[in-house]
Amino acid sequence: MENQDRPIGVFDSGIGGISVLRELYAIMPEEDYIYFGDSVHAPYGTKTLAQVRELTVANVKELLRQGAKGIVVACNTATSAAVRILRNMYPELPLVGIEPALKPAALQPGHPKVLVMATPMTIREEKFQRLVEQYEFDADIIGLPCPGLMEFVEAGNTDGEDLRDFLEDLLAPYLRDIDSIVLGCTHYPFVQRVIQDIAGERVRIFDGGAGTAREMRRRLELAGLRTARAKKGTVLFENSLATEEEIELSRFLFQKK
Ligand code: DGL
Repeated sequence: MENQDRPIGVFDSGIGGISVLRELYAIMPEEDYIYFGDSVHAPYGTKTLAQVRELTVANVKELLRQGAKGIVVACNTATSAAVRILRNMYPELPLVGIEPALKPAALQPGHPKVLVMATPMTIREEKFQRLVEQYEFDADIIGLPCPGLMEFVEAGNTDGEDLRDFLEDLLAPYLRDIDSIVLGCTHYPFVQRVIQDIAGERVRIFDGGAGTAREMRRRLELAGLRTARAKKGTVLFENSLATEEEIELSRFLFQKK
C-alpha cells in the first residue's frame, strides 16, 4: 500500500475519542481510520501517571503495527501524561494530542469566567497548569475534576435521568459564577446537550475536537501523507473490550448528531 493511503490511527481510553474521530472524518472523509478504544482499562483519568504512560505507549505501538501513518491521541488524559514521551519515541511521525480548548474560551472579550471540566489527571498535570498560567490574566479559570462522568458515556448513557442528576450536583456550585465551559475530556461532547440544558443557553461551551482534527490535517499535509483518493475512506472500530455490543456502541456514537 502507498504510504499516504495507510490509515490514520486514533485512540482513547474508551469510546470518548469518537467525538474527535467525527471531526477528523468531517474534514478528511477520504482517509481511512482505525479507532482503538481501550475500554477494558478505562477510566485512565483516575489511574497513576506511570499506568497511563504505559497503556498509551502500548496503544500507539499497536496502531503503528497495524500500519497507521499518523496518530491522534484523542484523549486529554493520555496526552497530558504521555505526549512528550511519544514525540521522543517517534520524532518523524505525524502525532497530534488533544488538550482542553482553553485558549478560545479565555480569549473571548470581557474577561470571561471559564469552567474547565476534565479528568482528575488532566487537571492535576503540569501541562494543564501551564495552560492555565498562559491565560490567567485573560480570564477567571476554574479547573473541575469530574471523576465518574466518563463512565456514563462508556455505558452508552448520554441523556438518562441519573446522568442529569450527576451533572446537576457537579455543576450546581459553579453555575452562578461562570459564562463558559470547556469540555476537557473527549467523552464529554456526548453529554454536551445535558450540560447545556443545566447550565442554560447563555453559557458557551468549547471543545477541542475540531481544532485537533485541523491540526492533524496540517501535519499530514506537511509530511506529504494525505491520500490522493477521492472516494470515502473506511472507519474500523477496535476495542480492548472485544464485544459486538462495544463495536455497535462505537458505531452508534460515530453517527450520533
Ligand atoms: N476521554 C479521556 C480524556 O479525554 C479520558 C477519560 C478517562 O479515561 O478517564 O481525557
